[in-house]
Amino acid sequence: MKLLVLNGPNLNLLGRREPDIYGMSSMADLEKSVVSEGQQLGFEVSFRQTNNESELIDWIQEAFESKTPVILNPAAFTHYSYALRDACAAVTSSGTPLIEVHISNPHAREEFRQTSVISAVATGVIAGFGHSSYLLALKALSNR
Ligand code: DQA
Repeated sequence: MKLLVLNGPNLNLLGRREPDIYGMSSMADLEKSVVSEGQQLGFEVSFRQTNNESELIDWIQEAFESKTPVILNPAAFTHYSYALRDACAAVTSSGTPLIEVHISNPHAREEFRQTSVISAVATGVIAGFGHSSYLLALKALSNR
């Protein structure tokens, strides 16, 4: 089964950006472990990252059109992008699962991070487990 694993802005800097919060491993390391764990669970993973809100929305619409499940780390868009939320709502309300993931636990951080405009339209949310948040999301999808 096809699966989109989508990442928002600044996640391309993983391993170099605030490593005390986001860890020392790179986006390439994360991609490798998600693709390989995904394969073991029977998923054909397309792993992508963008700093561009409209590109991310286009990818979510691709999931809507093709009914492809999504694991999404919306990064800072989590906290304010109503356009991204609307795209995610189209996906989940059509019956396609979309799991919101975060490497850190935004609820334990600055106040502005404690609001997610995505969570209410996501199938579920996994946060605070480092790169394992993605692997837990894969497990959750494969259990469905
Ligand atoms: C993040 C948390 C967001 O608040 C932040 O803007 C990110 C990464 C996470 O994975 O912990 O860029 O989504």
